[in-house]
Amino acid sequence: MSIITPKTLTPSPFLRKPQNPNPNPKFRSFKPQVYQFHCICERQTERGIEFETGETFFRHESAKGRDLGILAAAFYKQSKGRLRVLDAMCGCGIRSCRYLLEAKADFVLANDANDEYRGVILGNLKKVERGFGDARRWAVSHFDANRVLTECYLQRDFFDLIDIDSFGSDSLFLRSAMSTLKLNGLLYLTSTDGYSSGGHRPYCSLAAYGAYVRPMPCSNEIGLRMLIGGAVREASLLGYHVTPLFSYYSYHGPVFRVMLQVNRGKEHENRHYGFISYCNQCGNTRSFSWEELGQISCSCSSNKVCSPVTVSGPLWTGPLHSATFITEMLNLAEQWGWMGNSAGADLDKLLRRMLDESDPSLPFGYIKMDEMASRAKINSPPLKTMMTTLLEEGYAVSRSHIASNAIKTNCPMAECIRIAKELRGVDKF
Ligand SMILES: C[S@@+](CC[C@H](N)C(=O)[O-])C[C@H]1O[C@@H](n2cnc3c(N)ncnc32)[C@H](O)[C@@H]1O
Ligand SMILES: [Zn+2]
Repeated sequence: MSIITPKTLTPSPFLRKPQNPNPNPKFRSFKPQVYQFHCICERQTERGIEFETGETFFRHESAKGRDLGILAAAFYKQSKGRLRVLDAMCGCGIRSCRYLLEAKADFVLANDANDEYRGVILGNLKKVERGFGDARRWAVSHFDANRVLTECYLQRDFFDLIDIDSFGSDSLFLRSAMSTLKLNGLLYLTSTDGYSSGGHRPYCSLAAYGAYVRPMPCSNEIGLRMLIGGAVREASLLGYHVTPLFSYYSYHGPVFRVMLQVNRGKEHENRHYGFISYCNQCGNTRSFSWEELGQISCSCSSNKVCSPVTVSGPLWTGPLHSATFITEMLNLAEQWGWMGNSAGADLDKLLRRMLDESDPSLPFGYIKMDEMASRAKINSPPLKTMMTTLLEEGYAVSRSHIASNAIKTNCPMAECIRIAKELRGVDKF
């Protein structure tokens, strides 16, 4: 059982009611405010669970992100036989509730810095009997996430899953979260920093994730890779390594979510932690290792002069998902009747797309059909026809869960252009 009391750290007004350092006035205070994407309806239902939102920060659009977290937690509980969750930024407490009811968590600590949310959180958690002593199922606290994580670490109170559903960037909480996680535990991270992933604030991404990110066509995938890369760096410092179980981009926000498994031992030579280049001239993306830093260029130029390229990094360049883990999540979703679009979530479609993206022959990034068509100076052929032809020509190809009109493929851009032109009946160039 975990009791959060400010015994080891000096209580300070900052920790009790921290101010969001984001200069954006929308997020300056923790006091509930009504934004256009806020739902201020009192009663909500998610996967059959009724709850109140009061005036807490709640977004219906995040339901799919919650579904994914619950499926991962439930599979973890089934395989390990235990599940203690720290929901570090719980809002109205719906995740905590779902971790208890659906993932059958043994214990959930629901924390939110805003103590004005307490009544709503307690009201929602009341559905689950609280229990006493070692059988206690849940507790509620109102501290800065770093404080609650650090206190748990100091009390050697470790968790199997830590969920940090923050605004902006999670990187401030990475170290304390990793220290408070059990080995092999799951860390569910969020970033809503679309400016950084879009390459519009390279010094912010550098400060938050240690990555200098520049504008690239697949910037939303870069956002996921930036978040994982930040965790890789922090884990490595602590002697751990991380494995992404799934990575999810949602345009509402935008929101970047990654579920990472944290294990002891450094990743050998940081195999999947490097640089990604984009050549404006030919449209190809490529990854470069640290050893290749001085040789980053694209050899597309016909006169053998290397074309200048845009480079971002260091970032995670490895797989975004674990196919085995996604398959287990799909099986659970099927057992629970979560397939189809009954709850308006289309969860199985998303999971299947993630599974397709997990093909190890596929490189990072994706090719937007519009970019390809504009480079080819043709109308884009239908996406399905393009995919079938690429497969027939022996390339690996899948759709991307990130961009609906894009393909992931190991076929270079110039070849894609040739194929698209042929499909359109345009002469070879
Ligand atoms: C995106 S909302 C959480 C939504 C909730 N997880 C859900 O799924 O509905 C972020 C929450 O974090 C809280 N918060 C912001 N900064 C925090 C901090 N440093 N420590 C703890 N809570 C914080 C806010 O009060 C807000 O309720
Ligand atoms: Zn090039």
